[in-house]
Amino acid sequence: MLTTGPRGTRDILPDSSGYWQYVENMIREVCRNFAYQEIRTPIFEHTELFLRGIGETTDIVEKEMYTFTDRGKRNITLRPENTAAVVRSYLENKLYAGPQPTKLFYIGPMFRYDRPQAGRYRQFHQFGVEAIGAQGPAIDAEIISLAVEFLNRLGLNDLKLLINSVGCPACRPVYRTKLQEFFRDKVSQLCTDCQSRYDRNPMRILDCKNETCTEHSQGAPHMVDCLCDECSSHFTGLKEHLTAAGINFVINPRLVRGLDYYTKTAFEIQYSPLGAQSAVCGGGRYDGLIAECGGQPTPGIGFAIGIERVLLALEKQELLPIINNAIDVFVAPLGAETQAAAFQILTELRRANIAVDMDFINRSLKAQMKYANKYPAKFVALIGQDELAQNKVMLKNMETGSQELVERAELVHMIIEGMEK
Ligand code: HAM
Repeated sequence: MLTTGPRGTRDILPDSSGYWQYVENMIREVCRNFAYQEIRTPIFEHTELFLRGIGETTDIVEKEMYTFTDRGKRNITLRPENTAAVVRSYLENKLYAGPQPTKLFYIGPMFRYDRPQAGRYRQFHQFGVEAIGAQGPAIDAEIISLAVEFLNRLGLNDLKLLINSVGCPACRPVYRTKLQEFFRDKVSQLCTDCQSRYDRNPMRILDCKNETCTEHSQGAPHMVDCLCDECSSHFTGLKEHLTAAGINFVINPRLVRGLDYYTKTAFEIQYSPLGAQSAVCGGGRYDGLIAECGGQPTPGIGFAIGIERVLLALEKQELLPIINNAIDVFVAPLGAETQAAAFQILTELRRANIAVDMDFINRSLKAQMKYANKYPAKFVALIGQDELAQNKVMLKNMETGSQELVERAELVHMIIEGMEK
């Protein structure tokens, strides 16, 4: 137990943290282009927020939340997703009082107690975006185009954008009745989850991965055929905007998504080489959520992208960047007496904003040179007894192999000059 992390968690080690930084830099760059600003909310919230926000009949709420009572007897949950928390923050901090829409993005860990497998973890990370306060389909298209642009800039192709409309409280009850009629004489043959979904949330049957349920839902009525005028024209508007932006999409009438807050637009981006966990991005509109959380009725739309899945996709397509851990200078003390002087040089160089390391475990000269080459280091600054006595340093340029004895006072200057060459 002491040397094994909890199931479904992973360490991001130094050999891959550079890939994370690369992806995070891309997120920040794209969000800046699209004028979305970062929000950071706590990783835990009152459980009630997720019960209300995500919906009590969803898999997330029923089976996957990390919920506990804290020492103050509060009912707390590690966030399984961040849309509800962003809405809570929007209301609590009165972000609606600023210019609208409020355009936010976030990067951070989420927690779901699910069965771990490749691409599915119990602690995973999302890059998410939320635009709160705009109604028309243009913002839906902007949100989708941000996700596509981000994935494209990373070099990912073979992506499939699926869109659907899941209607609104005006048209969904009609569809719900139609669906129940369709499944009425099939209920007993559905899986036990779907049998309970039949009464509580029949649209989720369409999303069930069980083979029998998939077979039985063939020929089920489509939500897009039951949309009210408003939802229908919103969906048409979205398609027009996506077409205008040259973004390819496929309409998938069975796309219902696993969270109850969605209204109108629902979408997913899949990368099929990832196999079972092929959804890299999921999102949609949530026009009822803000009011559900106690605010004025306010429209919203957003998505979240699973960063682990993006990294798996980048790895599959051999698109991971080469990570540069090179340093400018390696300071090599030769003998214990030169350690303090070496440390002084190291400090001076760092204060001049130069990337530097030194030997801390009394390696031999040969081993130090080998270590310096591993980074690689552009220069090695050697300091032995003789150099110490003369107040000098032997500066070796590791690229050209040339070396010269330089005054310690001149070192920073010479290195900066050498780096510019
Ligand atoms: P979601 O579909 O539950 O939506 O999650 C979005 C993405 O997070 C998934 O497409 C997947 O890439 C990643 N993901 C989900 N669960 C896991 C897991 N266990 N392990 C690894 N990756 C995972 C949401 O969370 C919504 N909040 C998205 C949204 C924002 N809708 C509107 N605004």
